[in-house]
Amino acid sequence: AKNVGILAIEIYFPPTCIQQEVLEAHDGASKGKYTIGLGQDCMGFCTEVEDVISMSLTAVSSLLEKYGVDPKQIGRLEVGSETVLDKSKSIKTFLMPIFEKSGNTDIEGVDSTNACYGGTAALFNCVNWVESSSWDGRYGLVVCTDSAVYAEGPARPTGGAAAIAMLIGPNAPIVFESKFRGSHMAHAYDFYKPNLASEYPVVDGKLSQTCYLMALDSCYKTFCNKYEKLEGKQFSVADAEYVVFHSPYNKVISEQNASYIDEAAKEKLAPFSSLTSNESYQSRDLEKASQQVAKPFYDAKVQPSTLIPKQVGNMYTASIYAAFASLLHNKNSTLAGQRVILFSYGSGLSATMFSVRFNEGQHPFCLSNIETVMNVSEKLKSRHEFPPEKFVEIMQVMEHRYGAKDFVTNKDTSLLAPGTYFLTHVDSMYRRFYSKK
Ligand code: ACO
Repeated sequence: AKNVGILAIEIYFPPTCIQQEVLEAHDGASKGKYTIGLGQDCMGFCTEVEDVISMSLTAVSSLLEKYGVDPKQIGRLEVGSETVLDKSKSIKTFLMPIFEKSGNTDIEGVDSTNACYGGTAALFNCVNWVESSSWDGRYGLVVCTDSAVYAEGPARPTGGAAAIAMLIGPNAPIVFESKFRGSHMAHAYDFYKPNLASEYPVVDGKLSQTCYLMALDSCYKTFCNKYEKLEGKQFSVADAEYVVFHSPYNKVISEQNASYIDEAAKEKLAPFSSLTSNESYQSRDLEKASQQVAKPFYDAKVQPSTLIPKQVGNMYTASIYAAFASLLHNKNSTLAGQRVILFSYGSGLSATMFSVRFNEGQHPFCLSNIETVMNVSEKLKSRHEFPPEKFVEIMQVMEHRYGAKDFVTNKDTSLLAPGTYFLTHVDSMYRRFYSKK
């Protein structure tokens, strides 16, 4: 198969959200800490009728319907998620009823999990499958879905929720340059979920920032080496129009761009050249200087991908693809012919830098139709803002519901758009039941 990549995308995030400014005041944080300090505007969250399974059902059925894809045409379905609702039964199997209905049960793939990286693992599995000798000519389908919730405290404003579905096949408008991949995998305790009775992670916020930076550095070096070997020339940032980063919260990515800058900028960073690499990952002064030096780079190459992550929050596995969707939304008509570099990071840790190229494609699998189907502006605009007291109350209900059995949800679907799946009840055997509005 030639020009394998992403043919179609659909994004779903809950219609329920809270303004960061409002949460900031409610939490007694200093004014500007969440909005300027973390760089976040708004946070999406699931109420008791939604979860990662319902969001995935919504995203998958909407993608198939809006792009006119017959469920029989899917030969592989991979899910990336770190939101565990069942330690054995995969989220993928919850999506199978959509395909069983049309008689298609011949679909490979299950779930991939490693913090925010699972979606990228799922995506690579599908791309590799279409490029391989086991490909049967049908499409791959990738779903990245997570509900990121944190205990009360400094990490709570860095939550979010979404599901993204991506159709994979040949002759795509978003083509993978599969030979240019640089990965960095290591053992770290920066963010993990050892308490199986709780949905909340254990997180060492500062260590996660250092790990992210180290992984970025290492992936970039490997990526450049591979590029040089294959292309016979050095990779330069000018070779990519945009860079899309996994974004736990927006501020983190504005601080990470110094490695890509030109010679003139390097002079300004010279005072820091004596730091060891470990010191450099933690130096606040270097961070500030880098941020300043990299600002024009950030504004031109990164900012167009920040819309949804700033508005919805950290969607874990979906975050980087929500950033990518933001770029498609903002720069749609000018992307053809351009290259974008993506950096995927999952705590624990695993990270990869990879590359895609755009072409206009053919309807329905073209850049302009992807933008139309995703309908990002309308989805963001039609959300409902909750007051903080109500948000906290919902978080408490969800805490009790996590891992629980024998309950019925309030089935209040008044805020959900038609076609949205929702959770109706969990029975005494922990079996989950969903309905479609
Ligand atoms: N106005 C403007 N800026 C402010 C204000 C204010 N009133 N108050 C604080 N700030 C700034 C701080 O200076 C800081 O900015 P800086 O980093 O550029 O210096 C920023 O706001 C955050 O303030 P901190 O005091 O560092 O915040 P705190 O330690 O309370 O929490 C943190 C922040 C660590 C990010 C926390 O929210 C967290 O742990 N989140 C979870 C991170 C996570 O889950 N990572 C997992 C994914 S891993 C990954 O992908 C990297």
